[in-house]
Amino acid sequence: MIICKSRDEIEKMKKANKTVSIVLNELKNMIKPGVSVELLDKVAEEMIRKMGGIPAFKGYKPSKFAKKEYPYTICTSINEEIVHGMPVKRILKEGQIISIDLGVRVDGYYGDAAITVPVGKISDEAERLIRVTENALFLAIEEVRVGNRISDISYTIQSYVESNGFSVIRDFVGHGIGSSLHEEPQIPNFGQPGQGIRIKEGMTFAIEPMVSMGSYEVEILEDSWTAVTKDRSFAAHFEHTVAVFSDGPEILSLFNSSKN
Ligand code: MF3
Ligand code: CO
Repeated sequence: MIICKSRDEIEKMKKANKTVSIVLNELKNMIKPGVSVELLDKVAEEMIRKMGGIPAFKGYKPSKFAKKEYPYTICTSINEEIVHGMPVKRILKEGQIISIDLGVRVDGYYGDAAITVPVGKISDEAERLIRVTENALFLAIEEVRVGNRISDISYTIQSYVESNGFSVIRDFVGHGIGSSLHEEPQIPNFGQPGQGIRIKEGMTFAIEPMVSMGSYEVEILEDSWTAVTKDRSFAAHFEHTVAVFSDGPEILSLFNSSKN
């Protein structure tokens, strides 16, 4: 079941997403060669708790069959890591790219967003990967309109990414979000247009394209969380939480948005 939210509920989601955007912006400003990813996690958790929020990923179990709970506040996925990389003792090096994913709960409602950031000077191709992935997210958000279908979002992401010579990761999806971190519907990042449910006012989605420079095949590392590209090509990830209004989408997780 897809839950449509009231204005009141969307206001609560704005609060959670505001925290997400403030923390992500702070972490982004910390990224440079020599910084430990462990520190990023500490700073994130401290900031969130100071602002009265609760880290949403920490202790999260994707299903009751999952081997173990996710133990950190943020996911930090470096280079060929796509998503769910863990902020363990590692030092960032010049030329790397790092994706930071963050979910927060405030007042019973969730916010979820992700960014990919260069560490110092990176290759032109890595720059292009980051730009194309972020563009794909914003093009996809334009499709989040009453009357469109879920797969219009998916198709927009896939066609834009592939026309730029990259591939879309197929094993992970965007999702509904609200008083749970993950709600229906699933929002794949590939597919034919015109399929799936129609988008209605009050729906709230986390849209999250993941893009690889090489093939879309995925492997999960020993830690049972970190997803990497099988060919070890670089991958980027951007995510925003978006609400559907009668006159179009509103991004709840934009940093410094006048609306939040
Ligand atoms: N943004 C990702 C998602 O929505 C991150 C989840 S990390 C987890 O699935 F620990 F919560 F699984
Ligand atoms: Co998400």
